[in-house]
This record gives sequence, structure tokens and C-alpha cells, in this order.
Amino acid sequence: MSDLQGKRVVIGITGGIAAYKTIELIRLLRKANAEVRVVLTSAAAEFVTPLTLQAISGSPVSQSLFDPAAELSMGHIELAKWADIIVVAPATADFIARMSVGMANDLLSTLCLATSAPILLAPAMNQQMYAQTITQENMAKLAQRGVKFVGPNSGEQACGDVGAGRMSEPSEIFTALCEQLVPKQDLHGLTVVITAGPTREAIDPVRYLSNHSSGKMGYAIAQAFAERGATVTLISGPVNLPTPANVKRINVISAQEMWEVAMESAVKNQLFIGCAAVADYRMADISEQKIKKTADNNELTLRLIKNPDIIASVAALDEQRPFVVGFAAETQNVEVYAKDKLQRKNLDMICANSVAGGAVFGEDRNALHLFWKNGEKLLPSCSKTELAQVLAQEIVEQFITR
Ligand code: C5P
Repeated sequence: MSDLQGKRVVIGITGGIAAYKTIELIRLLRKANAEVRVVLTSAAAEFVTPLTLQAISGSPVSQSLFDPAAELSMGHIELAKWADIIVVAPATADFIARMSVGMANDLLSTLCLATSAPILLAPAMNQQMYAQTITQENMAKLAQRGVKFVGPNSGEQACGDVGAGRMSEPSEIFTALCEQLVPKQDLHGLTVVITAGPTREAIDPVRYLSNHSSGKMGYAIAQAFAERGATVTLISGPVNLPTPANVKRINVISAQEMWEVAMESAVKNQLFIGCAAVADYRMADISEQKIKKTADNNELTLRLIKNPDIIASVAALDEQRPFVVGFAAETQNVEVYAKDKLQRKNLDMICANSVAGGAVFGEDRNALHLFWKNGEKLLPSCSKTELAQVLAQEIVEQFITR
């Protein structure tokens, strides 16, 4: 059995007879050391009691969007952020329909809309309801947006009908959940170096030039590779993020420092992913003393010189050149500029995103348009965590076919 120590699971229960089986699922999760919070819809409370679920999960059960006590301790947005995964079991036809149109008219649907965590649904309904085109369309729509499904199974139903619509067994849901939470260790032996975050270029002892990069995308990519067993070195500018598990992090401040560490690391790794927002220029001379404002000077000129282009230097390596993936954050003409950068910097792949109006920086969601020599692929908007997982897979596939 997988160890889910430290994993935080929200179990949503909607109103179906299969709700009694979810008690066993919660028991399995607790046995695997997961932290569990249960959210019940009002219809679900007709099938299972909050008291039972509280005893089994070891935590208070949430039922209402407007519960003053719950909002004090763990409001719905907090719970949406807290979750590593949301599993809705059983997920009724009604709940699936509401979710497919983005409704947020109870606590559980609100959580599903507010979370950036993966969502797994275990449908359970009468076989006729399941077979309806509208239900199938709703599920397809959700699947297209990244929602995962487990089941349903076929067989005899509580209502006496026979067909597809029985909720998967707790053990099957548990396995599907583990697959989402604990990725396969299939990248053992792959070595990856990633640059992330901004750089800071000192002006004087108290000031610097920098940019809005939060480092979230680069950190999510590092995590995505490390979770699959790759050996990951993360060269990070100054950011406010915890180091992902099993990632070797090297902190740097300036572009010059990042360049030095990157060049040393690049030749030892198979993949180089330049996600950092490197400052293009630095001070020609850093003032040793704090630059003072003077009464008679309304203008101050700083003389800047160009920083080395880290990714272009890596891509120009003759020997031991890794597979090089760059990023292009643009405010306009995203595709044209990205393709130009791919060629000019001699990259193997470029991941373009639009940062028009300051979008993306510091956000939890992003979308990417990937380009390589003979192809392209659009990765639609989703959480940076999920996007990083999809991107890691695309990079691996291009790396293998190179
Ligand atoms: O030219 P531009 O800064 O838009 O290119 C972005 C890509 O180049 C990113 O992958 C970024 O990490 C990388 N870069 C770099 N060193 C620089 C400037 C950009 O590695 N000095």
C-alpha cells in the first residue's frame, strides 16, 4: 500500500446510495497516513451521517458554504488551497452537470471551482442516467479540462437495474487517487537542471534592479521531474518558495552568478530548462556606497551593460550540450518572437506565454504554447503544478525523439 504521509485529501460526497462505500475509502486513506477532510452535500447527508464521517476521518466534516464556525477555522478557499487532491465519490449526475458548467452553489462545487489541485470523480448513478448523452457530454467536457475519472463499473445497481453506473470499489478509487498523488518513478537516471525566478542586479549596497518573476513555474517544473525520479538541480534566483522534495537547490542572486553555476551544471546534465527571468542588463559599476540624492539633481543616470545570455551560452556548447528548453514571456506577437528566439538562441524547444498586462507573474495558473523545430503544441490554461507535469512529459518526449 502507498504511503500518503503528508498528503492532504478532500473527500467530497454527493447524494447517492454508494456514499456508504466512501467510508471504506476514507478508512483506506487514513491507514495510508493521508490527512482527510470530508465535505458533504446536503443530499449526501441523507445517506451517511456527518458523525460517522467525522469519526472515520478524524476531522470535522464540512457541509455548508455559509457556516460561520467553519469559515473561522478553515474557510472554503482555505480548504481549496489546502487540498493536494479533491476526490468526489460518489459523484452524481447532478454534481457532474453542475461542475461541468462551473457552478458554485454549494460548498463542494465551490471548492472544485476554487482549487488548483487535481480533481478525481467517481461517478455513481442509475445506468440510464449514465448512458444519457448529456451526462456523457458533461463528463467529456470535464475530462478535457483535466478532471480525472475512475469508473463507473458495470453490474447490478441498488435500484435493481443492470448496467454501467456503479461506483468503483473503494480500493479502485484509492489506487486511482494514488496514481494522481504519487507519480510513477519512470525518470530515474534522467538529469535535469532548471533555472528559476528573477535575478537581482545590485545598483549600490541597498538597491537593485529586478523583475516580477515569482519562480513558481520553474519550481513546479523541478517538482514535476523530481516526483518522477529524475535528478534535479534547481538554480534559483531570490524567491519566496520552499524547495521541492528531492531537488538540489543552488541559490544565486545575479545573472552573472546564475551564468557561472548554469555553465558548470549544464555539461553534467541531459536537460537544461531556462525558466529564469534573467536581467538583460546589470550596472557597469556597482556603487560601493549608497547613491545619495542631491538637492540640485533631478535626474540620475545609471549606466548598464549587457548580461551574458545564459541559455544561449548553454545551447552554444560544442560538447556535452544538453537538450535545451527556453521560455519566452512576451507582451505581444508571442508566436513570432518565440519562434525567433528558438532559432536565434539555438534551442531545442521554447515555451511561450503571454504576460500582457502583467498576467502570469505570481499567478497560480498559466497556459503555454510549445514550439520546436518541426512542431508545436498548445497546453491550455491550468494550475502551474498540472501544467508543469504536462510540460515535463512533452519535454521528455521531444528529448527522446531528438
Ligand atoms: O531573450 P529573452 O530574455 O526573452 O529569452 C528568454 C529565455 O532566455 C528564457 O528561457 C530565459 O531563461 C533565457 N535567458 C537567459 N539569460 C539571459 C536572458 C534570458 O538564460 N540573460
